[in-house]
Amino acid sequence: MTGEMWDTLWVDVNLATMVDGGEPYGAVRDGAVGISAGRLAFVGPRAGLPGAPQSLAQDVRSGRGRWVSPGLIDCHTHLVYGGNRAHEFEQRLAGASYEEIATAGGGILSTVMATREATEARLLDSALARLDRLLAEGVTTIEIKSGYGLDLPTELKMLTVARRLAKERPVSVRTTLLGAHAVPPEFVGRPDDYIDFVCREVIPAAAKAGLADAVDAFCERIGFTPEQTARVFDAAAVHDLPVKLHAEQLSDQGGAQLAARYGALSADHLEYVSSEGVEAMAQSGTVAVLLPGAFYVLKETRKPPIDAFRRLGVPMAVSTDCNPGSSPVTSLLLMVNMACVLFGLTVEEALAGVTRNAARALGLSRSRGTLEVGKVADLAVWNIESPADLAYAVGANPLHEVVHAGKQGNSRAPR
Ligand code: NIG
Ligand code: FE
Repeated sequence: MTGEMWDTLWVDVNLATMVDGGEPYGAVRDGAVGISAGRLAFVGPRAGLPGAPQSLAQDVRSGRGRWVSPGLIDCHTHLVYGGNRAHEFEQRLAGASYEEIATAGGGILSTVMATREATEARLLDSALARLDRLLAEGVTTIEIKSGYGLDLPTELKMLTVARRLAKERPVSVRTTLLGAHAVPPEFVGRPDDYIDFVCREVIPAAAKAGLADAVDAFCERIGFTPEQTARVFDAAAVHDLPVKLHAEQLSDQGGAQLAARYGALSADHLEYVSSEGVEAMAQSGTVAVLLPGAFYVLKETRKPPIDAFRRLGVPMAVSTDCNPGSSPVTSLLLMVNMACVLFGLTVEEALAGVTRNAARALGLSRSRGTLEVGKVADLAVWNIESPADLAYAVGANPLHEVVHAGKQGNSRAPR
């Protein structure tokens, strides 16, 4: 080959490129992947390589017929928090509802107390334990929200911990400021004053420190009104921060329309979204982030309107919503399974939900989410017969190896 050699070339692999519009899963059998300087330099059939493998790369590796997909992307998590809410799980099993527990001062607020008390080191440790479980299943990019501080130092502490995780492990982290998650004790009965505080102090401080990649809010009866949410979004716009929204999780507040009006990257949950909300999302290209873990744990019975999303072409992502209350989940593959079984996604849709569409929900479509030349070389290598195995085998973890930005990440011995 003329010019520079690639760093690594994988051969004897089947590719689930997840590129839309061609073969199911964007599949390429007997494929090859070339990696140079952390980016994908070749993706295609081995027969299309521009020379003999040894002449193309320093390091030629055989995948022994394994499947390679983009590294998985968990696009909605509350991974950093203090404490634990197993007792609320017990209360809910005994009949209390999520909203009742929240209204009585438990729920998000109980995690706020524990998170304010926790040191940065302790938050880091507990988040690492959860992160490691996600990484063991092929996650290479994760979004992490604040929202359990609800005061300036603790919101910044959470975001700082989230950023530190990317230094501790082979993973890319996108941070989201979720100051408008609940009204903290200092502002009880004064939600508008709290929103003022979020807009005037928290968002500017997080933006100035470079700690937030996006801004989110919880638009709900037990959260904030659409008007309050709009003020948060206006403040985000001042700092050029994209927005996302916890919308229509427990009731229809018109949050999806609001998110669409602001060109939100995503609206998340959406069990109670109206047809107007779906149409607005389709118009704005806002991704629907489906969170089957929260649906399952809260024993929700109303499903997000998958057929309407499909019909109108609203991209669907799937995520863990990893949090101590509604979704204490650290398996993205289980969410892929649940998106299929509980919500009726096809396996291809569910896998697009943790790759291509998850990247889009984070504004990362140009660099991640599919195997395409020029994108970051984030790969998951799987011991599977076909991509459907990733959704089918409940509780199995067929990950063989991960590559993050061209470098070998977590790996497991071959079975
Ligand atoms: O995505 N809905 C609001 N936020 C989280 C739950 C947070 C919690 O219960 O601690 C969610 O479900
Ligand atoms: Fe959430």
